[in-house]
Amino acid sequence: MTTRDHVLRALRDSGAGGVSGESIAHVLGISRVAVSKHVAALRALGYVIEAVRGSGYVFVSAPDLALPAEVEPLVRDPLWHDFAGGPSTGSTNDDARLLAREGAGEGCVVVAASQDAGRGRMGRTWTSPAGGAYFSVVLRPPVAPSQAGPLALVVALGVARGLEAVGVVAGLKWPNDLQLRGHKLAGVLLEMSAESDRIDWVVAGVGINVSRPEHPFEGAAYLSESRPGIGAATAVAAALDGIAEVYAVWRDGGFAPLRAAYEERSVLKGRAVVVSDLTGAVRANGTVLGIDDEGRLLVGGRAGVEAVVAGEVTLRR
Ligand code: BTN
Repeated sequence: MTTRDHVLRALRDSGAGGVSGESIAHVLGISRVAVSKHVAALRALGYVIEAVRGSGYVFVSAPDLALPAEVEPLVRDPLWHDFAGGPSTGSTNDDARLLAREGAGEGCVVVAASQDAGRGRMGRTWTSPAGGAYFSVVLRPPVAPSQAGPLALVVALGVARGLEAVGVVAGLKWPNDLQLRGHKLAGVLLEMSAESDRIDWVVAGVGINVSRPEHPFEGAAYLSESRPGIGAATAVAAALDGIAEVYAVWRDGGFAPLRAAYEERSVLKGRAVVVSDLTGAVRANGTVLGIDDEGRLLVGGRAGVEAVVAGEVTLRR
C-alpha cells in the first residue's frame, strides 16, 4: 500500500466523525503538509472529502473507478492479493510482467483507471481512456507450456461469468473477446514466460469498456449500455472473482469441464468465418462447428474439419 492508500484508509475509517490532518500525520509519520497534498490528490481523483471546522477531514464518498483501493474491498476470492496500480499507468500488463519477473506470487493484481500505452493482441494499441477498466493478474499455473493453450479462453470465460454475476450477459468471440450485441466489450491479452517444461509466469491483462464516452469507439460496446450506472471498480472485482472460479476448474481438470460453458456463450457457433494468422494468411475458411477439449476452434470447410489453435476470426457475410 502506498502512503496515499494509508491516508485514504485513515479517512475512511474515521467515519462521519472525521479525523484531523495532524492525527493522520502523526500515525503515518509524515508532515501535515504531506497529508493535505494527499487529500488534494484524492479529491482530484473524485473522492469527496470535506474539511469540517473542529473535526478535520470527513470522508463523504469514493468514485467508482478502477483504482486498487476501490477494487480490493469488493473482491471476494482469496486468490487475489497485493493490489498495485493507480489512476494511470503505461500498461498494467507491463507493470505486472515486471512484478512477475521480480517474483510476485500468483494472484498479484495491477489495476488502473486509465493507460497511456495499453496494448492489445497482435501488436495492436488498446486505447485506454479514463472511464474504462484495465487490469492484469500474475498467474503461475503448474503445467507445461504446451498445456497453456486454452488459458486465454479460460480468462475470457471467467470475465464473462463474473460480469453475469453483476447483471451483464456478454457473448464470447473465440479466442478471447467479449461482445455485446456484436460489438466488442472487452479483450484479453495473455503473455507468458516459460522454459521448455514449465511455465514461470503468465500475465493475463483485461480491458473492459465501462462507460460510454461522448465519442465512442467504432465497433465498441459499453457495460453501461447493458447496466446503466455500473462502475469500473465493481466490474473489475466481478471479473476477478469470475476468473478465479474458472481458473480453479481449469487447474484441476483442464479445459474439458469448461468447454460447454464456453460454447454456450460463443457468438461464433454455426457462423461462416475466415480465420487468419498474424501475417494475414488464411488458416481456415468455413463454418464454426464448436471448440474442442483443448480450446481449439473447429471450422468445417471444403477440406474437412480444421482445429485452429490461434488466429483472428472474421465473420463472412
Ligand atoms: C485485445 O486485443 O482484445 C486485448 C486487449 C487487452 C487490453 C488490456 S487493458 C489491461 C492490460 N494492459 C494492456 O496493456 N493490455 C491489457
